[in-house]
Amino acid sequence: MSTIVNTGQADAWNGPVGQHWADHHERYDGMLASFDEALFAAAGIGERDRVLDVGCGSGSTTRRAARLAARGHVVGVDISEPMLARARSVSAGIKNVSYEWGDAQVHPFPAGRHDVAISRGGVMFFADHTAAFANIGRSLRPGGRLAFVCPRPAAPDGEEGRVLGLLASLLTASSPRVPAPQPSTKADLATAMASLADPDRTRKVLEQAAFGSVAVTPVDAPTCWGRDAGDAVDFYVSRGPRAEVPEETLDAMRAALRPYETDRGVLLSAGVWVVTARRDG
Ligand SMILES: C[S@@+](CC[C@H](N)C(=O)[O-])C[C@H]1O[C@@H](n2cnc3c(N)ncnc32)[C@H](O)[C@@H]1O
Repeated sequence: MSTIVNTGQADAWNGPVGQHWADHHERYDGMLASFDEALFAAAGIGERDRVLDVGCGSGSTTRRAARLAARGHVVGVDISEPMLARARSVSAGIKNVSYEWGDAQVHPFPAGRHDVAISRGGVMFFADHTAAFANIGRSLRPGGRLAFVCPRPAAPDGEEGRVLGLLASLLTASSPRVPAPQPSTKADLATAMASLADPDRTRKVLEQAAFGSVAVTPVDAPTCWGRDAGDAVDFYVSRGPRAEVPEETLDAMRAALRPYETDRGVLLSAGVWVVTARRDG
């Protein structure tokens, strides 16, 4: 039986936020997949590895890991029932994948079970990061590897931050009653997103959690927000009460995104940290 200590996060990811991610899993995957190359290069997953995917969401990285660990096994753990339901249905028939519902900060992982733990943006949401990484570390064999991706602080002139800021201000200017879509309706989710943005803090937390050889590397890549500006705006406003957004505001938002339309969709450059570490001992 798994215990939940991050109850606010559990509420958010089992509520409308998690449901939105589950319903739009392909879109969210399109936004994050450009960081996969760096994540998987850092993780170095071998054919026989036993892999843990922390905060696996709808399981895109879990399935990619399973292709690499073709003779091993991958477990995805997540606190969100709707996202795990999506992960399970998309992964049907893949024999070396399983999913577990739980709070990775305290989930009773079997000790020393995994060769590598990975996460694409699923490790920022812990109230106690040291306890969470210590728990994840205990699930690794001695010398086991950790590789994850987390957001860097948005530079004021960074492309994604600047463009999303413009969309948010257009939305609030059009009607103060329409809140700008956030990753969550809960403010603490936005705070959590930035919780590992400071590499010095991340190094300290991991060392306190008995990891060594910590490396934090910046990676920039384009995030895809939609097929074209209209599609991207539809997605953006779907995270709030769309019916209340005036047509002229939608037009202004489409115009703001048009310069970023490419033949691969609306691409906004964004930055993450790729963090690697090794379980001591
Ligand atoms: C930004 S989403 C990323 C999902 C997925 N890794 C991906 O790349 O699509 C963050 C994920 O972390 C999960 N999560 C948040 N807090 C968690 C916790 N304490 N334990 C396990 N999963 C958690 C959420 O439910 C969500 O699926």
